[in-house]
Amino acid sequence: MGDPPAIEAIDLVKEFGEQRAVDGVSFSVPQGTVLGLLGPNGAGKTTTVRMMTTLTVPTSGTARVAGHDVVREPAAVRRSMGLTGQAATVDELLTGRENLRLIGALYGLSATYMRRATEDLLERFSLVEAGNKVVKEYSGGMRRRLDLAVSLVATPPVLFLDEPTTGLDPRSRVELWDVLRELVDGGTTLLLTTQYLEEADQLADRIVVIDQGNVIAEGTPLQLKDSSGAAAVVVTVSHAADLGSAEAVIRSVVPEVHVEPNARQLTAPADGLADMTRIAVAFEGTGIELDDLGLKRPTLDDVFLRLTGHRAEEPEAEIEEAVS
Ligand SMILES: Nc1ncnc2c1ncn2[C@@H]1O[C@H](COP(=O)(O)OP(=O)(O)OP(=O)(O)O)[C@@H](O)[C@H]1O
Ligand SMILES: [Mg+2]
Repeated sequence: MGDPPAIEAIDLVKEFGEQRAVDGVSFSVPQGTVLGLLGPNGAGKTTTVRMMTTLTVPTSGTARVAGHDVVREPAAVRRSMGLTGQAATVDELLTGRENLRLIGALYGLSATYMRRATEDLLERFSLVEAGNKVVKEYSGGMRRRLDLAVSLVATPPVLFLDEPTTGLDPRSRVELWDVLRELVDGGTTLLLTTQYLEEADQLADRIVVIDQGNVIAEGTPLQLKDSSGAAAVVVTVSHAADLGSAEAVIRSVVPEVHVEPNARQLTAPADGLADMTRIAVAFEGTGIELDDLGLKRPTLDDVFLRLTGHRAEEPEAEIEEAVS
């Protein structure tokens, strides 16, 4: 028998009046691994995280964190976990250093321990210089890093991160990913929510996709990307008359091409940059004028389209209306 899962959700349900925001969600996260909870706006990610972190009580179902039941043993759950929420939890009028020490005091950690821990955390999140600035003056990326540092003060074995990189510029996002990878290497179990397939792909061992409160897919990032189609090279010709000859050019490189005449577009499933380059080279000297040639990687939208038949932000009702 292996270790019990660090995080477990069993048929979690949360109703707000008539609405079932979370409609029977189950998953389990082995210790020292990362689960990505992927879904569009309003899918039920935050509500799920709030139930798992004792901030809201499930309508039905159960969840366990580090073996503790979120309803019956909320205090034990809180001791085992850290949370970085979608809304910032730090005090804007305090400095980064003060925020960290304050949280330490709230956890009952000694001032001596906290002096050391604060400097370690500031170091780890590249906030040493910003440590004496009030948070109000922080950039988005600095705030996100401080949020995360705050959630690590009590060195919890389980960490919940609700959209940790939303609103960050690409560089800050990659930096944060690195910090998270270090944490996981150190044995932390991570549950993170995200709207970005790429982020789940970068960090998660397993991904659970939720839509309208339901789990609609589950698997490794690779399985999920396979199910949503591989990358594709998309070529837009300048003149519709060239669609036929363009199709032949692409077919000389890859076996499959879809033509969308209205968009003057040809889409070819492809392996990546190498195929894109070969296709670009094949167009040289053909005299076919192109508006665009690019690589399209599967996105959350593609996953959704494939799994549910609708785009991530399109409500079900609209689809039905459109069909009838
Ligand atoms: N306190 C509440 N009262 C009523 N409805 C709520 C409440 N919290 C969430 N909801 C509703 O439940 C559904 C799920 O919301 P939730 O915040 O969990 O989604 P989310 O996946 O986190 O979305 P986002 O990506 O926008 O953060 C939404 O339709 C939302 O409007
Ligand atoms: Mg949310």
